[in-house]
Order: sequence, then C-alpha cells, then structure tokens
Amino acid sequence: MSASLKLPISSVLQGGYAHPLSREWQARKKIDKSMLMYPIFITDEPSARVEVPSLPGQCRWGVDRLEEFLGPLVKKGLKSVILFGVPLNCAKDASGTPADDPEGPVILAIKKLRTLFPDLYIACDVCLCEYTSHGHCGLLNGDGTLQAEPSANRVADVALSYAKAGAHCVAPSDMMDGRIRMIKQKLLDAGYANRCLLMSYSAKFASGLYGPFRDAAGSAPSFGDRKCYQLPPAAKGLARRAIQRDMAEGADIIMVKPSLPYLDILADAAQLAPDHPLAAYQVSGEYAMIVAGARAGVYDLRAMAFETTESILRAGATLVLTYFTPQFLDWLDE
Ligand code: PBG
Ligand code: ZN
Repeated sequence: MSASLKLPISSVLQGGYAHPLSREWQARKKIDKSMLMYPIFITDEPSARVEVPSLPGQCRWGVDRLEEFLGPLVKKGLKSVILFGVPLNCAKDASGTPADDPEGPVILAIKKLRTLFPDLYIACDVCLCEYTSHGHCGLLNGDGTLQAEPSANRVADVALSYAKAGAHCVAPSDMMDGRIRMIKQKLLDAGYANRCLLMSYSAKFASGLYGPFRDAAGSAPSFGDRKCYQLPPAAKGLARRAIQRDMAEGADIIMVKPSLPYLDILADAAQLAPDHPLAAYQVSGEYAMIVAGARAGVYDLRAMAFETTESILRAGATLVLTYFTPQFLDWLDE
C-alpha cells in the first residue's frame, strides 16, 4: 500500500478548492457593492476639489462639485456615503458651534445629495473635533478634562440637526459616554427615530492610523491626545463593554474601528451583537499603508484591497467603510 493511501479521508481538502469557482464558494460572505460605504470629505469652499496628499486619490470636495464627483460612482453602483465636514472658513469655538450651522458644508451637502441622488444612502459622521477651537471631540473644562454630560448633549444636538436635514444615518465618532442614549432620545422626541438610523462607533480605539484623516479634515487636537475617550488599543474588555452598552442604549449598527489590527474585536462584536448589522472602518492610515506598500512593490494593490476586505468580512462585518469603494465598484464588475 502506498503512503498516500494511508491518509485519513478527512485530511484531503484540496479537492474542495481546486477550481476558481469552488474557491468562491468557500466564503461565507462575498464582497458586494451594497456593503461598501464610501467616506467623503465636504469642505465649505463650494467649488473646491483639493487632493489630500497623505490620502492618495481622495479629495476634499465643495458642494457644487458633488454631482461631478459622485455621479459616475452612483452609475457604477455606489450605494452609500458617509460625510465628514471640513470647515476651513468658519470661526471654530469651544463648543463646536459650526457643526450644526445650517449653512455649513455637511447640512448643505445632505440636502444637495438627497436631491441629486434620491437612491443614495447618506450617513453623516457626527463629531465636534472638526469644529472646536481645541480640536477635541467633546466640550472641555478649564483644565482640559472632558465635560461628560454637556459633551454628549451637544453631540446629540448636532446629530438631530443632521437627521432633520435629511441624513438617513447619524454616526457619532466622538466616544463620549452616554451619547448613544442621548441621541436616540432626541431623535425619538423630535419624531426622527423611526427614519434615521443610529450607527455607533462603539469600539473606536486611540489608534495611530487616523493621521491622514486628520490632515484631510483638519481635526488634529491642538494639545494632548484622545486617550481619555478613545479606547486603549489593548483594551478588549472595554471594547466588549462599549459594544454591549451601545446596543442597550439604542444603537442600530455597531462599528469597530480601525479594522485590520482589531479583527479579534470584530469577531467578538459579531458574537456579542449577532442581531445587529456590524460595521468595520478601514481607516485612513490603513488605506494609506496599503497604497504605500503597493507603490513600494511589496504586493499588488488590488489583491491586497481584496485580501484585507475579505478578512474583515470573515471576522464578521456586514458593512465596510472604505476609501477603496470607488475602485471596488470597478473591480467587482471585472
Ligand atoms: C473624528 C473622526 C476620526 C475618524 C473618523 N471620525 C479621527 C479621529 O478620531 O481622530 C478617523 C477616520 C479615518 O482615519 O479614516 N472623530
Ligand atoms: Zn472627533
């Protein structure tokens, strides 16, 4: 008897993935266009189209250029975007007043996009850091510590104003305690809770991977860091508690961010929140890293975009926020 015949039958796997088609069948979930949400930056100069050097291929767009920017993508099957405001000509203050300025870039963009593209799903990031003079995500005491309740309250007011402007989804990224409950309550009181989805950046870590975003959005803190509100990278327990808290406070979608260094958290979230959609944000630094590696000849860009996104789905995400969205719209058609 030859050696190979002594292999137990259960040792033989390769027959199951010998063909390109049978390889596709091995995924529990495949990337499709409806699970991609594209993060876009809207600035207050209406005709702007300014490239962000640290985020190759991504620009800050003015409201008047949104048709030219998104029209071709919508034609290719873009289903959803998440808006980030980049106010450059406004007077930032301690409470982030420009965040819900009715003439500010986010509110104008929501209204414009709703008319231009009636089928496009509009999510809005909700935070104060782009609008505060100190660049932090909440309101501060004189000594630089956070004012807990007033911060959540202010964030909730901003979220409500985006919902009223027509956002389908509000997504608070500030990480203030209790903001999910506060936002849900304000949406409810104003009659918007049944038509505006609340996506919580639940497990958002104090990561080194947000640098290009802060360049793009002009939202770096003017002093200190975000370690007293964003989660410590080693904190699995806190992440699990934040996910459970946000579900209890009324989040409709749970998010984990960044994605690749936190796939274990994503897998935990899938198990803790089996009845919620689960989002993962492949953040600016992850995108920049993948592009830089490809440019350095380390790997093929497309292959690595697929591999990382597939790993995010494998870990349990049902929705992926990614700067690769425009490229995927092409790749998925090929
Ligand atoms: C603002 C915010 C950040 C990101 C999303 N919303 C930056 C930060 O928290 O400093 C990061 C997104 C990215 O890096 O792509 N609160
Ligand atoms: Zn912020």
